[in-house]
Parts: sequence; structure tokens; C-alpha cells
Amino acid sequence: MCQYNGHFVYLAIFNYVIKITMRVCSIIGYKGESLAAPLLVTCLQKMEYRGYDSVGIGTINDGKVSVRKGVGRVEDVDSTLLLRILPGRIGIGHTRWATHGRVTEANAHPHTSCNGEIAVVHNGIIQNYSQLKSQLLMKGHVFKSETDSEVIAHLLEDDYKETGDLRGAISNTSKKLAGAFSFIAAFSDGTIAGARFDEPLIVGISKDGYYISSDVVGFLNYTDRAIFLDNRDIVILKGSGMEMITFDGAPVVRPVTQVAWEFGGIDKGTYAHFTIKEINEQVETIVKSGRGQESKIEEVSEMLKLAPFIYFTGSGTSYHCALVAKNLLAKYGKRKSDAIVSSEFQYLVNDIERDSVIVAISQSGETADVLEVIKKAKTLGSKIISIVNVPTSSLARLSDVSIHMNCGPEIGVAATKSFTSQLTILYAIVDSLSGGVIGLEDQKYKLQNAVKELVERQRLIEQIAEEIKDVKDIYVLGRSIHYPIALEGALKIKELSYVHAEGIPAGELKHGPLALIDRNSCILVLNPNDSTFDDVKANAHEIKARGASLIGIGNSPSDVYDRFITIPEMDEVFYPLLEVIPFQMIAYYLALEKDANPDYPRNLAKSVTVK
Ligand code: M6R
Repeated sequence: MCQYNGHFVYLAIFNYVIKITMRVCSIIGYKGESLAAPLLVTCLQKMEYRGYDSVGIGTINDGKVSVRKGVGRVEDVDSTLLLRILPGRIGIGHTRWATHGRVTEANAHPHTSCNGEIAVVHNGIIQNYSQLKSQLLMKGHVFKSETDSEVIAHLLEDDYKETGDLRGAISNTSKKLAGAFSFIAAFSDGTIAGARFDEPLIVGISKDGYYISSDVVGFLNYTDRAIFLDNRDIVILKGSGMEMITFDGAPVVRPVTQVAWEFGGIDKGTYAHFTIKEINEQVETIVKSGRGQESKIEEVSEMLKLAPFIYFTGSGTSYHCALVAKNLLAKYGKRKSDAIVSSEFQYLVNDIERDSVIVAISQSGETADVLEVIKKAKTLGSKIISIVNVPTSSLARLSDVSIHMNCGPEIGVAATKSFTSQLTILYAIVDSLSGGVIGLEDQKYKLQNAVKELVERQRLIEQIAEEIKDVKDIYVLGRSIHYPIALEGALKIKELSYVHAEGIPAGELKHGPLALIDRNSCILVLNPNDSTFDDVKANAHEIKARGASLIGIGNSPSDVYDRFITIPEMDEVFYPLLEVIPFQMIAYYLALEKDANPDYPRNLAKSVTVK
């Protein structure tokens, strides 16, 4: 019932906290000399690791907007709906990830305005969705989906009708939206526009056209020249030119950056999955991490020496790395610190000491929980150090000093090589701070050989995965610096194989969890040769007495274990770096046993850019 004659429509957003719809989606736009649809399909396949419930494409041709969308992976939807045959050299695309709310064709993007002249793809959450939708409904707009995103298409349509000016409509719509969002709109006159607030949006400049994307990975096959938009920036591709303005309409200029990642790094090569490729890549990444960043590592170690208070923070796997770092810093650097998971730290951060130093660890550098902590801490005067794999990420740009993991793109949703890379950098920092007590540089090649030996244990790990494939519960035990590895091992098993797994400090077993152990339980025990050895072995005997099956991971095989994975001998400080690898492999092969796709675990996304 929107009977507007204008050729354009705009994006708008809504205001009401949507508790039922959380997204980590990928968005992409293209305008140039090539056919848009096949290009967009390829770009979306590259970004699919971020979200993979449904997919859609919209193109503009001869003043007409065409949209095709469906539920499923890009490849499947493309082969059923032939996304790639949509006509035109201008288009937008989307892959969706939803933890709540239905995964339906109607809810897949792009969403269109009532007059069909605007198509919109969106990443993030529109918090004021409900109010905006009510206002739009009162004006006669008809909604076709249950999403918050659709309001953007209708708002744009409405704002364009009111202002008669596309530029003004985009900025009006953007200003009406609350929440964290980035969106791209395609208009029937051939214009494409993108806007961002607290969700990344990047322009790629290639020889044959422009890209707008939520992730550089989307266009990295075509160009490495990128412009990272700031919050409240709008980019408009009209005619053959590009214009950048703020939400208030003021012109802005942002620098063109050369993206450092290698183009060829984003395919599976000869491997069946990205996850196993990335596990194997650790043989190389373990020595590459931190290379060329020695002066930054030194600078960070000086900052930590002088810091009155030190906090490590991160989410998921990166938080487990923070826990190891706290342990290393205490033992080898003789400095006290705390490690707090970011989703909890955000409620405490207002109360921390003003001159604290915060070390934020994040593969993506875009995790919303981590950014929330950092933004608050910065306003209170904290110094921010980050360890990231994406040097152009929001976290890197918010930091006083940022160290690059340098392990190449990690596409598997489960963090593998990024964990050992971030950990290696933390070893280097503690080594520098302690005057070389760890001796990382001297040990790097021994470490590399040890990683190589471990990834070659494929046959043994496959057998173990086959033997434990039917167990309902797995418990992973470790003490001291090995406890965070127990947590990480359990996380890998959970997310890749969907088997319930829990990491437990081995000494806590007798305080409760022992009640759960019986003949049907499977226990993985971190039992390396260090000060924890005897105590952990005693715990293993307690379990054995209850009939559970036991798999040991360490340096000295023992009869108490039904199976034993031997970790090559090294200085004990390095065991956490090595003992995580068998867990990554067990989780991978267990996923295969269960017919699960290890690269794309259900309900998960690679970068969690929403709270
Ligand atoms: O990109 P980040 O390191 O900030 O991501 C943090 C977590 O979301 C991430 O480690 C997640 O737990 C992985 N799926 C674990 O494998």
C-alpha cells in the first residue's frame, strides 16, 4: 500500500530490543563492469563461515529490482534457485545466521520496499524495530517478513518520498535506526548505498568496480584495496563515482588501505575441510606468529612491567588463551593479573582501577562482547593492548598497541590455529618481560617439530574418535596451566561434535563431579610431566576405580589409561601449546563420525558481532 512513484527507497531501522533475533550475517554489494550475480555468489561463499542459515541476492537491471532467496547453504540455494543467473551489473547479497526466530525464505534477505524499488541487506540488530514498524504500519506499509531488517527498506521508501532526495533519505533513515548495524541498499535507479554503526562495513576498490562488504574476505579474491568506514559513515555508489558522507550529510574522506592477507589463503587446498587444513597449518603458524613484531612485543612487555593492574580478556577460545596468559605471567613474569571473560567483564569494567592495562585477545577483532569492554575501559583511561588476527579490525583500531597473530585467514568456525598463534605471542611477551626465562626463540624449531609429530598422529586420533563416538558425556581434566586447555578441549568437542563435554580442574573432581562418573563416561586427562603429574595420575586412578574409560595425554604412558596420546618432550612451559592439538583433532574426527560438518557447526558463527 505504499504507492510511491519515486525510483528509490531508503533504509531505516527500528527501536525495540529484539531479544528473539540475533544475527551474525554477511552482506555484500557490487557495482561495476562485471555481471553482479555470479560474482556475489562467489563472494558469499567466501563469507559463509560467518552465517549459513539462508542466502539471497538482489540485482538491478534496466531499472528493475530482482530478488531470489532461500533457506540453506549458498551452494545448495544457488543450485536450486539459480541465484547466479539474475541479470545486471549491480547487486547485493546476504548470508544469514539466526540463533532464534525462524529460518524461512521470507526472513532471508534482501528485503524489499512496498513499491519493489529498493532492496536491502542488513547485518546486526535494529533495537527500535518495533516502534519504527508500528509507525510504518500506520502509514500503510506492508511487511512480508518477521525480521527487524525489513523496516530499513520501508523507512528508505518513506524517507525518499518525504525528501525527494536519495542522499537525504539514506542519512535520515540511518539516523532513525538504533542498535548496532550495517546495511547495503540497492535502488532501482542503479544506486547502491551502505551505512554503518557499530558493525563493520568496508569498501573494496577493484579495476572493474566497487564492492561494499561486512568482511574483507568477501572481496579479497578481487582486490586488496579497501576503505574501512567509520561509525556513522555512509557510502553511495551512483553513476560511476563514489561519495562518502556522515549520517549528518557532511562529506568525509577515509584512507585507502592495502589489505595484507594473501589472496590464495582462502581455499581448502587438498583438505576435506578448512578445520583440518587449519589444524595442520599450525606447523607453520606456530613459528610465524609474532614474527616482524618484535618491537611491539617489547613495547607491550614494558607496558605490562609498569602497569599497576593487568587484565586479560576475550571470549570463547580467546578467553581460554587469556587464562593461560594469566598463569604464564604469574609463574614466569612474576606479575599478578586477572583474566575475565568479556561477556562478564563488561559489567565490572566501570569499577576497575583507572590506570589499568587491558590485554584483549580476539581472532576476529570484531567480537561485540570484547569491544564493549574495550570501549568502556578506554573512556575510563585504561590502556588497551590487543592481539588480533585481523589487523584492520575494530579492536585493532581501538587499541593503543595491537599485535597481529599473522596466522592467515581462519575460516573454520572452531578456533584452532588462531589459539596457538595468540598463545605463542603471549609466550613471547612474557619471555620479553621476564628477560628470556622461557627461551621461546631458541625453542621455536623444536616446537615446530613437536607440532608436526602431533598432527601426524591422525590414525591414532581417528581410532579414538571411532571408539568414543557413542559416549554421551566427556569430561576433560587438567590442573594448573593445563586447566584452561581442558576448557578449550571440551569447547572444541562440544562445538564440532555436539557431544556434551566439560573441562574440570582435576582436583575438583572429588568435590562433586565424581558423582557423574560411571562405566559410560569417557574422561580425557591432561597428565604431562610437570609438577601436576602425580596429583593428576592419582585422580586418574580414582576414576579408573569407577569403571570409566580413560584417555591420557602427556609424556609418560601408564597402565591406568586405556589409550594414551604422547606429547613430544619439551620444556614443560610449552606443553599447553602442544596438548591442545590432540583435542582439536579428536573434535574434528568425532564430528566426521557423527556426520556433522566441522567447518560449519550448527547455530554458531565465526565472528559474534552481537551481544
Ligand atoms: O574472534 P574471537 O576470538 O573474538 O572469537 C571469540 C569466540 O567467539 C570464539 O573463540 C569461539 O568461541 C570459537 N567458536 C571457538 O572455537
